[in-house]
Amino acid sequence: MLSDSQLTPMYRQWAQAKRDYPDVLLLFRMGDFYEMFGEDAQTGARALELTLTARRVGDIKLPMCGVPYHAIDKYLRTLVEKGFRAAICEQVEDAKQAKGLVRRAVTRVVTPGTLLEDEILDGSGHNFLVSVAREREAFGIAAVDISTGDFMVTQIEAPRTAPGPEAPPLPEMAGRHRDAAVAATVDEIVRLGAAEVLISSELASDDTLRSTLEQATRATVTVAADAPAFASNRDQVCEQFGVASLAGFGCEDKPAATAAAAQALRYLRNTQLEAMPRLSSITTYSTSDFMVIDGSTRRNLELVASLRDGGKQGTLLGLLDRTRTPMGARALRQALLQPLLDIDGITARLDAVGELVADRVVAEQLAERLHDIYDIERLCARATAGRANAKDLRALCVSLQQLPAILAEMQNCDAGLLRSVRERIDPLAALAERLDCAIVDSPPVLITEGGIIREGYSDELDGIRHGAAGGREWIASFQDVERGRTGIRSLKVGYNKVFGYYIEVSKANIDLVPDYYERKQTLVNGERFITPELKEKEALVLGADERSQQLEHDLFVELRDAVAAEAERLMSTARAVAELDMLVSLAATAVEYGYTRPELDTSDRLVIRDGRHPVVEQALTDELFVPNDTDLDCRDSQLQIVTGPNMAGKSTYLRQVALLALLAQMGSWVPARSYSAGIIDRIFTRVGASDDLATGQSTFMVEMTETANILSNATDRSLIILDEIGRGTSTWDGMSIAWAVAEYIVEQIGAKTLFATHYHHLNELERLLGGVRNLRVTVKEQGDDIIFLRKIVEGGTDRSYGIQVARLAGLPVEVIERAREVLRTLESEDIVATPTRAAASKVAPTIQLKLFEGVRDPVVEKLKSMELDTLSPLEALMRLKQLQDEAKSGD
Ligand SMILES: Nc1ncnc2c1ncn2[C@@H]1O[C@H](COP(=O)(O)OP(=O)(O)O)[C@@H](O)[C@H]1O
Ligand SMILES: [Mg+2]
Repeated sequence: MLSDSQLTPMYRQWAQAKRDYPDVLLLFRMGDFYEMFGEDAQTGARALELTLTARRVGDIKLPMCGVPYHAIDKYLRTLVEKGFRAAICEQVEDAKQAKGLVRRAVTRVVTPGTLLEDEILDGSGHNFLVSVAREREAFGIAAVDISTGDFMVTQIEAPRTAPGPEAPPLPEMAGRHRDAAVAATVDEIVRLGAAEVLISSELASDDTLRSTLEQATRATVTVAADAPAFASNRDQVCEQFGVASLAGFGCEDKPAATAAAAQALRYLRNTQLEAMPRLSSITTYSTSDFMVIDGSTRRNLELVASLRDGGKQGTLLGLLDRTRTPMGARALRQALLQPLLDIDGITARLDAVGELVADRVVAEQLAERLHDIYDIERLCARATAGRANAKDLRALCVSLQQLPAILAEMQNCDAGLLRSVRERIDPLAALAERLDCAIVDSPPVLITEGGIIREGYSDELDGIRHGAAGGREWIASFQDVERGRTGIRSLKVGYNKVFGYYIEVSKANIDLVPDYYERKQTLVNGERFITPELKEKEALVLGADERSQQLEHDLFVELRDAVAAEAERLMSTARAVAELDMLVSLAATAVEYGYTRPELDTSDRLVIRDGRHPVVEQALTDELFVPNDTDLDCRDSQLQIVTGPNMAGKSTYLRQVALLALLAQMGSWVPARSYSAGIIDRIFTRVGASDDLATGQSTFMVEMTETANILSNATDRSLIILDEIGRGTSTWDGMSIAWAVAEYIVEQIGAKTLFATHYHHLNELERLLGGVRNLRVTVKEQGDDIIFLRKIVEGGTDRSYGIQVARLAGLPVEVIERAREVLRTLESEDIVATPTRAAASKVAPTIQLKLFEGVRDPVVEKLKSMELDTLSPLEALMRLKQLQDEAKSGD
C-alpha cells in the first residue's frame, strides 16, 4: 500500500476509504466514472472484463479501471452474481460548489444478499440475506429480504434424546443430534434460497456447518463482525423496531433466533449506511408449522429446479406458475416449498381456489388487472430507502390504479380468504391520485435533470417554466425584430457557452449597427454584440432551467417521502395482492388441466382415484397418461412394494403420489378423480444411486446417509418414497439392506411407504409382515416384445423383462439372443436363486463354446470331415502335420 505522503489529496481520500472497507471492492466516483485502483482494479478488471490501465501516482504506477456511472447497475449485477461485494464511494457534494477537493464518502456496500435494484433482482424469487448464529444447543436463522421488507426468524434445536426410563443419553447420541440440527439448519437455508449467508465468527470455525453449507448452496458466505460487547442482541433488535419486548414478534424466548436477527441488523447497518431500508416487523416461524420437505426430496421431486439443468422448465413450479405479478410468483413458490399442516389453513385456500374455479369470469378479470401491477413490495422498499426513481413512482401509481377495479371484481366473493384479501387491499386513493397528477407518463431514470413533474402540479414550477418558455420565444423572435429595426438582412442571433446569447453582424454592415449595441468580440469577418434586453431574457431562460430542475428534484423527493410514509399500508396491500395472485393462478391451473378439489381429514389414510403425475401428463405428446389408484394407510396397506420392468412407470407413480399430497396441502387442486387423505407431516424421497444423476454423487454412501436420515426423522404421519434403494452396492448387499429398511419402517415407524424395486425377492415380505402389499406395473407380452400398459395392479412379479426392454432400446440382435440363452441356462440351473461364483462359472463355458462355434475356420471344417476309421496311423500323422501347417499359416 502507498504511504499517504506519496499521494495527492484525492488518492489520500481513496486510501482512507479503502482502509475503512478493506475486504470489498471500492468503486470510487470521479466525474462520470466509478474507478477502481490497485488490487481492486486487478480483481475488478478480471471480473468485469474491463481494460486495465495505470495511473502514475507519485513514484509508482497504480493499476486502474473504471465503469461509466450510468451503467453502474449492470456492472454491479455482474459483480454480485460472481459473489463479490462492492462499496460505492460517492461524491457527496456538488462539484461546482465544492471549495477545493470534492467530499466523498461510502454511501453503501452492495452485497448479494442486500440488493434493491429491479435490474439486478429476479422478480419471482426472494433475495434473502440469511443470518445464522448459535446460542447453546440451538441454531438461529434470520432471513431478511430488504427489497420486500420481509424479516423472518426461526430457531432449530438439536432434538432431545427421548427420555428413556433407564439409559441416559450417550455422548455420541448428542453428537448425532447436533449433526441433525446442523443438517436441518442447512436445509432451511437452502429452502430459503439464500443469496448470501452471514455466519457468526464462531460458526465460521465450525467445520461441519461450513462444509455442509458449502456443499449445499452456492450462496456467498460472509463472516459477520463480532457483536459489540456492551449491547445485548435482544436490546439491539428492540431498538431497531422501537419495541420494549420481542414478545409481539414471537421470539422473546428464542435467544438463538434473536442473535441471528441482531447479527443481520448490524450487517445491514454497516452495508446500507444512510440508505437503511425500513423494516417494520419480524415474523417468527417454526419449521414444524409446515410440511417438511428436505433438500433431496425437493430435488428428486423437481419442485422448483429440474434435475436436467436446474431450470424451472419441467418442474412443478414451472407447471403451476400462472401468476401475473412478481409478488404473486414469490408467494406461490413459498407455498409450494412450505405446504401447510393445519386443515383450516388448507381448507381456506381450497375454498378460495374453488370459488375462482367456479367463477371463471371474475377470475379472468382479476388476472387481467393483476397483469398491470408491478412489484409493489420492492417499489415501496426502494422508496423507503430513498432509492426509488421517478419511473418507480410511476409504476407504483399505475399499480395502485388497478386496485379499485380489483376490489370491484371481488365485490361478491364469498370464500373467507378472498374476503380477507379484499379487506387487506387498500387502494390508497389519495396517494395514487397525487402521484398521477405529479409524475409524467414516462419519466426519465435520472431524477436530477427534470422532465419528471407534470404541468399543473406546482404553480411555482409552472411559473418558472412559463417564464423560461416566454424568454425562449422572445429570443427566437429577436433576430427578425432586429433585422427589421436595423435593416441588416444578414444579422444573426447565436449562442455559445462563453458569451451566452449574442448578435452577430458582418464587417460589411458594421456601419448600420445602432449605438445601443454593446460590442463583445471581434471576429475575422464581423463583430458580436449584446443588448441589455437580450441579457435579461438570457438570465431568465438559463436561470429558469436550473431552478426548475432543482425544484423538480425537490418535488420528487417530497413525493417519494410521501410514499415512504405509507410503507405499512403499501406492504400489507402488496401481500394481499400476492395472495390473490397466487389463488387466481392455482385456479387457472386447476381449470386448464382438469384438477379436482382434494379432501383432507384427520384419518391416516391416503386414497387417490385415477391420480396423474402433473408434469409427466403434460409432457407426453403422442401417448395418453394412464391414471392410477393409490390406497395407503397405517395398518393393512402401509408399505407397498412396486415391481415392474424398467421404464414401466414405477418412478413416475411414486412421485405422483408425493406430488399430489404436496399439492393438496399447499391448497391446490390435484390431478386425480378424487383425493382424500389425512394430513401428511413430512415427505421423504430416496432415489437409488444410479438414478440420481443430478448431484453427481452417485455413491452408495450418500444413498445410505439419506436413508439413515429418513429412518431417524420419519413419523407415522409421513410419506416415504423409496425408489430402488440399495442399487449402489452388490445385489445381495443391496437386497438385504432394502429388506431390513422395509422391515424397520413397518415395525418401528409406521409411515406410509411406496417402495419401488427390481428385487423380486422383496415380494416375500408381503407374506411375512402385516401391512405390506405387493403391486406391479403391468406389461403385456406380445411375442418377443412387451407393451407397457402403465397400470398398477395388485400382486408381485417374478420377471424383470430386462431383455425385452433392452431389445426395445435397440441392442444388437446377437446380444439379445445370447442374453436369452444365458438366462435360460441360469434359470434351468436354478442359479437365479443362488447366483454364487460357482454357479456363475457354469455360464462361462457356454460362452466360450459358442464363440468357438461361431467361427467358420477351414482347418476346423477339415478336421470335422476327417474319417478316422479309414486312415492308417501314418496317414493320420501326415494329415495332422498338414492341418497344423495350415493352422500356423492362418495365424
Ligand atoms: N402412467 C403413465 N402413463 C403414461 N406414460 C407413463 C406413465 N408412467 C410413466 N410413463 C412414461 O414412462 C417413462 C418411464 O417411466 P419411469 O417411471 O421412469 O419408469 P421406471 O421407474 O419403472 O423405470 C416416463 O418417462 C413416462 O414417459
Ligand atoms: Mg425408475
